[in-house]
Amino acid sequence: MSLRIWPLTAALVLAPAVLSASQAQDNAEKAQAVSDQNGMYFDAEGNPTFKILDGGVVDWYTFSGYRRYHADCHVCHGPDGMGSTYAPPLIDSMKSIDYANFLAIVAEGIQDVGAGKESVMPGFGDNKNVYCYLDDLYIYLRARSVGGIPRGRPPKKADKPEAAKDHEDACMSG
Ligand code: HEC
Repeated sequence: MSLRIWPLTAALVLAPAVLSASQAQDNAEKAQAVSDQNGMYFDAEGNPTFKILDGGVVDWYTFSGYRRYHADCHVCHGPDGMGSTYAPPLIDSMKSIDYANFLAIVAEGIQDVGAGKESVMPGFGDNKNVYCYLDDLYIYLRARSVGGIPRGRPPKKADKPEAAKDHEDACMSG
């Protein structure tokens, strides 16, 4: 008896895993860099993305995002975007958060007070160490979420583009 119903049960149990595998494939494809402008890479929709160059060299923004993440986000979201008991793993969150959403969440924060749990994502709209580097953070977390880079500090990085220096100077002093 149980042999006859098993295949159906198995199909139901496996279905979500299969779906999320194809979703993961989608996200990885969407994150492909198709163009670049002054050292920043963009996907087909024109959103910032990462690029792994020859010899495993990561683009500047991926590396910069790694550093910024570990300065300002890691205390709550865990090392390498892996999550903690307090805040969700961003390597998963980023699978369903687009660029515009990401900018809004990080600038404004989220207050979710309910069911006895009070967890707060602070807004960073007035913190230049974060908002001057929102693209860097997005690019780094996107790379992590689609498996583009492993855990840890990227060992090889591209030189810092002039455009990144200009943006930094203008943003930090503005
Ligand atoms: C003080 C702790 C704390 C810090 C620091 C922090 N976060 Fe959060 N963050 C949270 C919590 C808690 C949540 C979940 C909030 C909720 O869902 O109610 C969250 C949620 C998020 C989300 C939405 C995740 C989802 O699944 O919806 C994003 C994106 C995010 N944080 C990015 C960042 C980035 C980028 C930084 C660093 C610039 C950062 N956070 C720093 C606590 C923090």
